[in-house]
Amino acid sequence: MTAPAAVTLDGVRRTFPDGTEAVRSVSLTIDEGDYVAVAGPSGSGKSTLLNIVSLLATPDAGNVIIRGTKTACMSDADRARLRARTFSFVFQSFHLVDHLSAYENVQLGLTLSARPDVDPKIALEQVGLAHRMHALPREMSGGERQRTAIARALARDTPIVICDEPTGSLDSESTEMVLDLLDVVHRAGRTLLVVTHDHYVMSRSQRLLKLRDGSVDFGASR
Ligand SMILES: Nc1ncnc2c1ncn2[C@@H]1O[C@H](COP(=O)(O)OP(=O)(O)OP(=O)(O)O)[C@@H](O)[C@H]1O
Ligand SMILES: [Mg+2]
Repeated sequence: MTAPAAVTLDGVRRTFPDGTEAVRSVSLTIDEGDYVAVAGPSGSGKSTLLNIVSLLATPDAGNVIIRGTKTACMSDADRARLRARTFSFVFQSFHLVDHLSAYENVQLGLTLSARPDVDPKIALEQVGLAHRMHALPREMSGGERQRTAIARALARDTPIVICDEPTGSLDSESTEMVLDLLDVVHRAGRTLLVVTHDHYVMSRSQRLLKLRDGSVDFGASR
């Protein structure tokens, strides 16, 4: 038997109360270990789609199947548990806790995923930030903050890592560092979904998923 796909979407829709059809009947499969860039104009539904994939939002219609588990009939508590054990997140705005050091931010991520046995320092070493482990987010550069967010994702060791514009606010040197780290995550066999407007970031992925007006643009090329 072949392993189930990392993510299967079947006829997924999301319409906001004001009538905006953010995602219109999207069906797609993302294999385990895939590195997928998600692109498309502003408002094309990228973040909404990722929120659905990562079980942060529920679609109005359609099925979301995560590593063989159908999520449609799950309770909110089961969905939250599946989310915590399956997904790590890296966002453009880092989402670090301001009053916690780099070390404590990574540690918090581990506590939330029930992996308190992992040493945050090792994760910070992997991203070249062991020497900054006691720094607060406001004392770090944008690139350092993003590397801390990646250290948190690395340490949590979830099968799927979701990144929404992970290099959006970084200079080219920090972008390169972050993309090299995403390669490390990918080589470790984890599935990566990366929203980006940057053609260079797209070129570093294996596959491009282009959205247009809430639908997948299957004719798209890089
Ligand atoms: N909470 C909401 N309520 C109403 N409309 C929303 C909401 N969130 C998003 N939308 C709308 O849904 C559509 C898709 O939004 P989404 O944030 O998914 O786009 P995006 O592709 O991520 O855009 P960007 O590149 O600017 O981040 C847009 O028209 C947006 O205005
Ligand atoms: Mg977005």
